[in-house]
Amino acid sequence: TSVDKIKANGFVTMSTNAEFEPFEYKDGEEIVGIDIDISNKIAEKLGVKLKINDVAFDSLTTELKTGKTNFVAAGMTADEDRKKNVDFSDTYFDASQSIITLKGSPIKTRADLTGKKVGVQQGTTGDTYCTDEKGTSDVKVASTERYNKGVDAIADLINGKIDAVVIDDFPAKKFVEKNPDKLVKLDDALTVEKYAIAVPKGDTEMLKAVNDVLSELKSSGELNKIIDKYKAA
Ligand code: ARG
Repeated sequence: TSVDKIKANGFVTMSTNAEFEPFEYKDGEEIVGIDIDISNKIAEKLGVKLKINDVAFDSLTTELKTGKTNFVAAGMTADEDRKKNVDFSDTYFDASQSIITLKGSPIKTRADLTGKKVGVQQGTTGDTYCTDEKGTSDVKVASTERYNKGVDAIADLINGKIDAVVIDDFPAKKFVEKNPDKLVKLDDALTVEKYAIAVPKGDTEMLKAVNDVLSELKSSGELNKIIDKYKAA
């Protein structure tokens, strides 16, 4: 079984996209963040080392499908479409999509995104929302610019190539904290989302290992401690 194999190998593989502070990001050479702390607990529980694959966000479900990884911890929203391809753990964080603009921008609410050029991270729920793939979004943007890294979208916002960036609220807060003189995060929350860890479809053993760790982290208060640590960081 998957867990027997992990134990025999002495390591468990987790895939992520380390462009999403504070969930996963690079601190020098090292990948750190809330999801890394959770993943280390999963490795610890299995009695093995954690190996991290840092890949593009839109290839994470493929990593699971092709057997390249045991789980994905990437601030990933447990989204109905993704459930066709992967299994999700219990959720561990409530999130929403936020709007970042330049200070003094005429964009003050989601309605003001109409007709604007919006930057998103490729393959994310923010991308789906702005691109209106499902035809259900309440905004009609002029165009979406897709980036592999949120930080590149922020750079284009600052240099005036796009009018706004739509990204998850906690990473949005981190970007604004780094550029307080240039950027603002609007109060408007565009979506209601919950993050979960993804495992290969049908891998009930891995799913149970992940859910056991999440439930221990929740009941002990450790999960809140981890989140608070990165709020302050
Ligand atoms: N929550 C969003 C989604 O699931 C964005 C996640 C981006 N995560 C990352 N590690 N880049 O689509």
